Amino acid sequence: METTQAVGCHADGSSRCPTPLDAVLERLRCPLCHAAVLRRDGKTVLCQRGHSFDIARQGYLTLLSGRRRHRGDTAEMVTARESFLGQGHYDALRSTITAFAAEYAPRQSRLVADLAGGTGYYLASTLNALPQACGATLDLSAAALRRASRAHPRAAAIGADMWQPLPLASRSADVVLNVFGPRTPGEIDRVLTGGGVLIMATAGAEHLRELRDRLGTIGVDSRKANRLRHAFGGFVEVARQPVRWRLALSRDQVRALVDMGPSAHHIDSDHRARVVQELPDTLGLTAAVDVVVLRRDTSGG
Ligand SMILES: C[S@@+](CC[C@H](N)C(=O)[O-])C[C@H]1O[C@@H](n2cnc3c(N)ncnc32)[C@H](O)[C@@H]1O
Ligand SMILES: [Zn+2]
Repeated sequence: METTQAVGCHADGSSRCPTPLDAVLERLRCPLCHAAVLRRDGKTVLCQRGHSFDIARQGYLTLLSGRRRHRGDTAEMVTARESFLGQGHYDALRSTITAFAAEYAPRQSRLVADLAGGTGYYLASTLNALPQACGATLDLSAAALRRASRAHPRAAAIGADMWQPLPLASRSADVVLNVFGPRTPGEIDRVLTGGGVLIMATAGAEHLRELRDRLGTIGVDSRKANRLRHAFGGFVEVARQPVRWRLALSRDQVRALVDMGPSAHHIDSDHRARVVQELPDTLGLTAAVDVVVLRRDTSGG
């Protein structure tokens, strides 16, 4: 059952959150001057030095520095993602992420930040497991942010570019989620609190192999695990769970899966449509995702 109660998540735990956005404001920072204190004035959020940022009608706040080279997922991709995830096909992954959050998040966690969080699907279940915490989905896609701002009563949605310094204050997030999204290890290191954890999910080598064979797309590079280990050299792995499950999808479901993924960026829509049209009525697929929990390495070694 979804937890609908909005809970106070200010440092003193005293005040109830008027809105999820107000609740996370004190943990954000200005993307232009990095001033930590932001305040709200109606539909605008201002930093200490007076830089102002708009809150969209749909409730999300855009904190971009203006140097934007990426766009994030299109409206079509987000619609496909919402439809596909809503049918429960990735429940096994979601429950693993949620269990790790319940197990490893610091006690009294205040903020869960879902980086490149899309529609906020994984953030919502994580917040259910952490009743004291508020959450924020950070993403570039306006279509995703519209969904993410409604993902959970304690979740805010923030427009942000993962390839720029994050608009989160240093040591502000007790839990960082990163599920199939772009990431910058140095920024994750900066924003995590002392005992904070990163819960990261990445596609395994076998993930959707049968579909990739048909689309002619390349799979996960076998050196990826090493690259990730190297990139997160300043962290220690506290837990790892390879999650494997089976999907049996109709043509429409495969279409949604293809349309929500990287193929939608790289393969032209005619080719995608042809491949889907030629599929059997039911396509069996391997799903294989690695979920890891990382913590900053404080051993000094
Ligand atoms: C594969 S989707 C994953 C979304 C979500 N984590 C999930 O698993 O449902 C990748 C997400 O990254 C976002 N994205 C891509 N480039 C980005 C960037 N430079 N900054 C922020 N978000 C970005 C996309 O808009 C999309 O929502
Ligand atoms: Zn500023």
